[in-house]
Amino acid sequence: MNFNFDLNIDRNRTASLKWDHIPTVFGVEEALPMWVADMDFAAPPAVVRAMHDRVEHGVFGYTLQTDSYREAITNWMGNRHNWSIKPEWIQYCPGVVPALSLIVEAFTEPGDQVVIQTPVYPPFYNVVKDHNRELILNPLIRNEQGDYEMDFEDLERSLSGGQVKMIILCSPHNPVGRVWTKEELSRIAALCEQYDVLVVSDEIHADLIFKAGSHTPFASLSEDAANRSFICTAPSKTFNIAGLNTANIIIPNDTLRRRFEKALQRYALGSITPIGAAATEAAYREGGEWLDALLDYIRGNMEYIKTYLEQNIPEVKVTLPEATYLLFIDFRGLKMSNDDLNKFLVHKARIGLNNGITFGKNADGFMRMNVACTLATTKEAMARLHSAVEQWREESK
Ligand SMILES: Cc1ncc(COP(=O)(O)O)c(C=O)c1O
Repeated sequence: MNFNFDLNIDRNRTASLKWDHIPTVFGVEEALPMWVADMDFAAPPAVVRAMHDRVEHGVFGYTLQTDSYREAITNWMGNRHNWSIKPEWIQYCPGVVPALSLIVEAFTEPGDQVVIQTPVYPPFYNVVKDHNRELILNPLIRNEQGDYEMDFEDLERSLSGGQVKMIILCSPHNPVGRVWTKEELSRIAALCEQYDVLVVSDEIHADLIFKAGSHTPFASLSEDAANRSFICTAPSKTFNIAGLNTANIIIPNDTLRRRFEKALQRYALGSITPIGAAATEAAYREGGEWLDALLDYIRGNMEYIKTYLEQNIPEVKVTLPEATYLLFIDFRGLKMSNDDLNKFLVHKARIGLNNGITFGKNADGFMRMNVACTLATTKEAMARLHSAVEQWREESK
């Protein structure tokens, strides 16, 4: 089947956070929105059809997660990630971030230490700090090729203090785009076993990998890893249905799962929406072919940008990620302060990106660009950046 990712769908005036919130967030009337992590593409045809069918029914009462819903997820995890799960391990939650927050609250005490690996998706900071837990940073190391690696020595130093109760992994990692290898994850698992630390593995980007089979679900590593982990999954990034608020938290250990369920009940969060359920099941059952085509298209955008920067704007550098539709771009060659870089991109280049320092102090001079957009938008962004940089070159002479 052919899917048309070149189709330009006007998202203005659809209450889109990414498109309609530009003036509020960036302070300008117009800037090409390449920030918030959703895609400009329509969801897979099978997903849209399933939602239509559900809407046609006309009754939208309280909805269960059916056996068929769980089976769709179970099959997907087996086929895509070689991970054999039991249907009863799956817990619905209205989002991955709500799940992170609930897990921190339910499984740690105020004052306990929780580790995150920076630069990282900003809510990782909030879900720890907002519950008055102590945030421990384990910064990633950027090597000379621009690839990021985990700092195991630093991590062990933190864990050996005895106060760390939990680590929140981003696997694959947003924003640096790494797909952690089995060896890297096994080292984390060994340290967490040694120091008895719970692992929350946010795997929301796991399907958006460029090498099939390269993602390792943390809980698939070993029995011990399964027994101390929460695997946060969702169809939202993969199939562009983030607005439907559907996530599935996979918890193999019975005791942990029951406690998570209790936390969900405390806030009455366990009820899936009928549209979310229909879309999710259709996505996992029928979305595979669309996803493969999508990944090819996104890779094309990324390669276009890398080549364009090398040929026209060598001051700005990018390493292509192993996963996600996000580029973490190194603007340090422009030698601007963070404030000036931000102003330059918004007012001169007129593109709306996520500022690197919102992911961590160690990402000053970097910007995150969302390339889940048409190739035409990608080209427009590069043309705008190029012309702004040419003007900056003139002015800096
Ligand atoms: C790593 C990561 N976790 C979670 C989310 C959002 O999850 P949700 O919308 O299900 O709360 C995102 C969105 O960009 C993300 O990048």
